[in-house]
Amino acid sequence: MTQKQDTPIILAIESSCDDTAAAVIVNRKILANIVSSQTMHEQYGGVIPELAGRAHQQYILPVVEKALETAGITSSDLDAIAYTRGPGLMGSLLVGSQFAKGMSMGLGIPTIGINHLQAHVAAHYIGERTPEFPFLCLLVSGGHTQILLVNNYLDMRIIGSTIDDAAGEAFDKTAKMLGLPYPGGPLVDQLAEDGNPLAFPFPKSNVGGYDYSFSGLKTSLLYFLQKQTALHPEFIQTNMNDICASMRHTIIKTLLSQFEKAALDLKIRHIGIAGGVSANRLLRRSFEALGKKHGMETYIPAFEYCTDNAAMIAIAGHHQYLQGKFNSLNDLPFAR
Ligand code: KG4
Ligand code: ZN
Repeated sequence: MTQKQDTPIILAIESSCDDTAAAVIVNRKILANIVSSQTMHEQYGGVIPELAGRAHQQYILPVVEKALETAGITSSDLDAIAYTRGPGLMGSLLVGSQFAKGMSMGLGIPTIGINHLQAHVAAHYIGERTPEFPFLCLLVSGGHTQILLVNNYLDMRIIGSTIDDAAGEAFDKTAKMLGLPYPGGPLVDQLAEDGNPLAFPFPKSNVGGYDYSFSGLKTSLLYFLQKQTALHPEFIQTNMNDICASMRHTIIKTLLSQFEKAALDLKIRHIGIAGGVSANRLLRRSFEALGKKHGMETYIPAFEYCTDNAAMIAIAGHHQYLQGKFNSLNDLPFAR
């Protein structure tokens, strides 16, 4: 193994779901951030795990080569390889982890297994303006919705969580019921911009503590659409923008009311959002407004670091490298 560096050059690989991504980081600076998104899942209305795994096998080498080329380095310059160890789809994780392990063995450098959710939070450490610890982070993705108290770079505690669907799932299922293609979150967001958020009052869930529930909202939309389309078959087409705006308003309001309660109870001054849903325009605007209202410092990652990407794996890898947290070749290749 090569000697540990203070300014490591790290290749990062992300393959937890349907994006094959690679990035290069040198001393906290992202030199390349390449993402190849799989589009074949659209026709099925959701990610097909078997197809995702095969597509990762096809794309991983060109994506890694492109990342090294964009960064202007060769593999022999690398000090370590970071990869997503979980959570995610097993077949997809296996492709990235085995690729990372094979490459690291060939180069005689260590691997660093990264928790995908910690990496979403670590997106906040890219760039110059970074949150002060402790900060409170709302992590909202396709599979998770959590409020995390972040005490240090890789030390965080879940203080609230969804008890059923994730916020991204609520957006994607809304889109599916409206006949929009997968992944529907960005489309619902876009259509909502031209709609009335108060057109249709959907119920907000009322869960104790700092937890969330989105499955009731999904059911209420289903019954609402069934009732309306029985009376007016064109109801969805003629009210698309208003339905999207009303659903988006309800999801974001639910997310922020629990988060606000947690931030005030814990007397937190620095707050952030992370994960795919943090690309949502209403969430970004409302989050800034929440910070302003309470005099809190707000942190919102750049768009390219919100949805799945390897730059966030790279920055998490950088901090894990400095703490000497490497994987052994005998470790299980993935952790769900
Ligand atoms: O973090 P991510 O890329 O993958 C997971 O780790 O799950 O999040 C993907 C989720 C999907 O549910 C997608 O619909 C949602 O993020 N999403 C959005 C927006 N952009 C992505 N949801 C609402 N508004 C958006 N603009
Ligand atoms: Zn993610």
